[in-house]
Amino acid sequence: MTHRTLLPGRLVAATHNRGKISELKDLFAPLGFEVVSALDLDLEEPEETEGSFVGNALLKARAAAKSTGAPALSDDSGLSVAALGGLPGIYSARWAGEPRDFGAAMAKVERELEDVGATDRSAKFVCALAVVWPDGHEEVFEGEVHGTLVWPPRGDKGFGYDPVFVAEGETITFGEMDPERKHAMSHRARAFDKLKSTLLP
Ligand code: IMP
Repeated sequence: MTHRTLLPGRLVAATHNRGKISELKDLFAPLGFEVVSALDLDLEEPEETEGSFVGNALLKARAAAKSTGAPALSDDSGLSVAALGGLPGIYSARWAGEPRDFGAAMAKVERELEDVGATDRSAKFVCALAVVWPDGHEEVFEGEVHGTLVWPPRGDKGFGYDPVFVAEGETITFGEMDPERKHAMSHRARAFDKLKSTLLP
């Protein structure tokens, strides 16, 4: 497949998640992109009906590119816990219920680990970043960061499951880590690095 250069300009971030919007703006704004989110534009949020991070990322970017006529970027990501067979995985946001309560979602992960008597507390964050152009051209990149789950949650930086995740080689959780440091090692940053070296001029 021939890759296409993504030229700096308006880029629609196809997400309503404020944590992701802020991280995507931090990554793309220094490169000259004007990142406008689906939340800013009041776009409808498509239902995530696919069974994979890549599938859901493409589904969200396609919907945003179609409704705005601009290139759209989406992130589908989540926490995959080894002892839970990869759950919550693509259901990471859904485990937080409606309205989202990540305190409850982290407690659910902990409860499920206790229920299966898990001694293995390894987990990874996974991210698929998709870029879809209004003419239908699509590109997708994946990134992962491996680590361990701790309990109780620690730190109020970051979002989602950050307070229970300690990346390999670290002692503090993503919730305790300065955003710049998290951005240097996160699943999103790793997918972004691939996107950058493939699509950016
Ligand atoms: P979705 O991609 O919108 O389905 O949601 C992914 C969910 O995974 C988010 O709501 C978070 O709970 C979780 N998640 C994804 N990336 C991160 C991260 O960097 N830190 C903590 N939680 C994350």
